[in-house]
Amino acid sequence: DSEKPLLGKKALVTAGPTYEKLDPVRFIGNYSSGRMGYCVAERLAELGASVTLVSGPTSLEPAVGGIDLVRVESAVEMLEACRAPFLDADITVLSAAVADYRPMEQAETKMKRETKGDFDLRLTANPDIAATLGATKRFGQRMIGFALETDRGEEEAMRKMKAKQLDAIVLNSLSDKGAGFGGTTNKVTIFDSQGRATSYPLKSKKEVAKDIVDYIMGLG
Ligand code: C5P
Repeated sequence: DSEKPLLGKKALVTAGPTYEKLDPVRFIGNYSSGRMGYCVAERLAELGASVTLVSGPTSLEPAVGGIDLVRVESAVEMLEACRAPFLDADITVLSAAVADYRPMEQAETKMKRETKGDFDLRLTANPDIAATLGATKRFGQRMIGFALETDRGEEEAMRKMKAKQLDAIVLNSLSDKGAGFGGTTNKVTIFDSQGRATSYPLKSKKEVAKDIVDYIMGLG
């Protein structure tokens, strides 16, 4: 079917921020809107894939059918939610902005202000979802990640692609106006594992999602 080239394929997409709980009313988070990942999930579904979208907290709803939405909050929950769908995913797109650290302890009751002085917070490393899944990648499984960099973008993107065993990485540079977090547009360069770069002009995230999915299909 030329209109639905991904019929019969399974895809896993992560999207959005993670919230790392401090106590019942506070968290450490980031400004990711989830929009880029939702657009990729929607495009994959439009082309016929059956998609599991594991999403951190966002205000978005998938705009097309065929998407199994699993809502999570923290990085640890996101990894757990990804394990089963990853096993039979043909295509995995890791677009979530996962917090690198979480509070070492989570208070069961609201933390009280004890003094007017400084407050030390101890953090512990979160699992790297992409690297954890990448380590068990099967032959033929495709995995694509994102890199959001303020400097030395290409170098960092290549390093992350290797470390996480990705087949390609989408670099959005924060120094490009209109790219990255929050907005409705994005400007990306995709690198393959050989370091070959494909650059795209500034577009709506919906159009960027089409480019990303076309690129993935081109990987074979
Ligand atoms: O290392 P960095 O966070 O910059 O890597 C970004 C890529 O790795 C993205 O694809 C992101 O979704 C993924 N990632 C992840 N789990 C983490 C950190 C990043 O899946 N804990």
